[in-house]
Amino acid sequence: MKTRPNLLPDEAAIREFFDRRYEAHQRYWWGGDNRYSIEPAQHTDYHATVLQIAQRQGPGRALDLGAGEGADAIRLAKLGWEVDAIELSPVACEKIETFAREERVNVRVRNESMTTAVLTDSAFNPVLMNGSLHYVADKLAVLSKVLQASVPGAVHAVALFSTATPMPAEHTVVPVFPDDEGGIVEDFYQDHTKLRYALERDRPERSHPGFGAHHHSHIKLITEVNPAEQP
Ligand SMILES: C[S@@+](CC[C@H](N)C(=O)[O-])C[C@H]1O[C@@H](n2cnc3c(N)ncnc32)[C@H](O)[C@@H]1O
Repeated sequence: MKTRPNLLPDEAAIREFFDRRYEAHQRYWWGGDNRYSIEPAQHTDYHATVLQIAQRQGPGRALDLGAGEGADAIRLAKLGWEVDAIELSPVACEKIETFAREERVNVRVRNESMTTAVLTDSAFNPVLMNGSLHYVADKLAVLSKVLQASVPGAVHAVALFSTATPMPAEHTVVPVFPDDEGGIVEDFYQDHTKLRYALERDRPERSHPGFGAHHHSHIKLITEVNPAEQP
């Protein structure tokens, strides 16, 4: 695992928060039996679409930004992809390595912030930003860097909290920057091809333990990038 670089103050708080959650729970995300399933039928539409695209396109190099405990990265690795999993929390990074070993796959775990991670190769497809970009203040800088690091016509899958539901108190312990529907992230992808777009309203949140019942709205966007718009 790479050594962690200096972090911006907000990122230190986010890292600390997630370290504690990941230490407290053996499996914080993806409690269901479908955690490492590569069967699209066992997943929500959003995750099924990512798996179907990955299966159709065949292996290459994938990038998972804010990989958490690595469920998405491990599924792609099971499909034969070389995966770079970039994750702020060192506790999460250790868990990705352990879980990947248990599933007998390799994931390149990078304990870095997506805001400062150097992505030199234009090598990645697909790129996943599942529930992570909303912790980043300057999303455009990250998205531009990622677009540059993607193969022509790569698929980007982004899931975000939407401002359509006020951020519940449970989440105010860490800085979260929810997105406006039709806002900066969707605007970034406007000249690219939407493969899947869903605005989920007021969904009960059951994915993470330790918090009371609360609701979120989500923006879920899967896009094929337009090579003409790539730097
Ligand atoms: C809501 S979790 C989602 C985890 C995973 N993508 C999933 O869907 O299971 C968000 C993750 O993003 C990570 N994260 C937040 N800010 C980050 C940053 N600047 N760079 C890398 N990871 C970050 C957090 O540590 C956390 O593990």
